[in-house]
Amino acid sequence: MFKQMAVRVKTEEKEKKQPEEEKNLERLRAMTGPLTAWYEASRRMLPWRECPTAYSVWVSEIMLQQTRIEAVKPYYDRFMEALPDVAALAEVEEDRLMKLWEGLGYYNRARNLKKAAQMIVREYNGTLPSDYKELMKLPGIGSYTAGAIASIVYKEAVPAVDGNVLRVLSRIFASREDISRQQVKKSREEMLLKVLPQTDPGSFNQAVMELGETICLPNGKPLCESCPVKKLCLAFRDHLEETLPVKSPPRKRRIEERTVCILEYQDQIGLCRRPDSGLLASLYELPNVEGHLTREQLPMAFDLKKEEIIQIEALPEAKHIFSHVEWRMIGYRIVLGRELGKRLIPAKKEELKTIYPLPNAFSRYTKLIK
Ligand code: ADE
Repeated sequence: MFKQMAVRVKTEEKEKKQPEEEKNLERLRAMTGPLTAWYEASRRMLPWRECPTAYSVWVSEIMLQQTRIEAVKPYYDRFMEALPDVAALAEVEEDRLMKLWEGLGYYNRARNLKKAAQMIVREYNGTLPSDYKELMKLPGIGSYTAGAIASIVYKEAVPAVDGNVLRVLSRIFASREDISRQQVKKSREEMLLKVLPQTDPGSFNQAVMELGETICLPNGKPLCESCPVKKLCLAFRDHLEETLPVKSPPRKRRIEERTVCILEYQDQIGLCRRPDSGLLASLYELPNVEGHLTREQLPMAFDLKKEEIIQIEALPEAKHIFSHVEWRMIGYRIVLGRELGKRLIPAKKEELKTIYPLPNAFSRYTKLIK
C-alpha cells in the first residue's frame, strides 16, 4: 500500500518536472494511432489522393495553398489534362499557364511551378527529386510542400505543417503561442519530426490536415464531439476550443479606389497588359485608373475624344481583396465609334474566355461583357 503511494507521489513529481514539450510529444505520440485509423476510415476521395505521384501531389499542394479544396478540384483536373507531366509544364507558354491558373489568384505560384519544372528538366533529368532537402531547393517549394511530397509519395518521415496543422496542434496542446510566428511553425515541425510514424508518414500528415479541414474547424466552430482525438485534447478538456489558436490579425490593407472601363468597338473589347512586376504582374486587364471618376473625366483619363464616344453606361460598384490592398471599383461601359487604337489590345469577346488571362479582380465587369 505504502509502496504504491510512494510510486504515485514519485510519478506525480516527475510529471510536474517533465518539461511542457515532453508532455506535448507524448500527446502527439498517443494521437498517431487513433488519428491515422480515423483517416483511413473516413478520408475524402480527392483526385490527387488516390494514385499520388510526385507531380500530382506537387501541383495539388501548390493550388491548395490559399484556396479551398472544392474550388481547387476543377482547376486541378483541367491543369493535369493540359499539362500532364513536368516536361509539359516546363514548356508551356506563359499566357496559357496564366489562363489555366485564371481565378486561382496568387499567380506567382504558377510562375514558380514552371520555373521549378524547368530546373527539374535541366538538373534532375525531368523527375522530381525524392528527398525533402533537395525538394526545398526548387522555386516555390517551402517546408510544407516539400514535406507533403516527400512524406506522401516517398514515405520520408518529415512533417508538412500548414495552417490546419498549426490550429490542430495549438488546440491539442492548449497553446497560446501565436501561430503566425515562423518560430512557432518551426517548433511544431521539430516536434512532429520526433513522433512521425515511419511506416506511413504521409497518411499521418494528411490525417492532421483532414482533421483541421473537416472537424477541428477555424473561427470558433470546431465539431469536437466527432473528433477522434478529443480525449487527448487539452483545449477540449479546458473549453478553450473556441478561443484557440491565437493568431495575430493580418496587417491592415491599403484601400485603393479605381475606375474600370469596358471599352467596346463592335465585337472587340480593349485590354491592357499589366507591368512585368508587382500586383498581377504581366496579366491582362480591363483599362482602369486610380480614383473614382465622373463621366466627364472619362475621355481625358482614357485618352478618348468626346466625339468618338457613342455611349457611356455606368456599371455597378465592385470590390476585390488582395493580400495587401483592397480595390474599391466603379465602372463604365464606353461604346466607341472608332477602332480601339494602338495602345489597347483588341480582344474578340470569345477570346476573353479562351486566350487572355484576366484576373478575378475584374470578374464583376467581365461578366457584363455581352
Ligand atoms: N490540404 C492541403 N493538402 C492536403 C492534403 N494532402 N490532405 C488533406 N488536406 C489537405
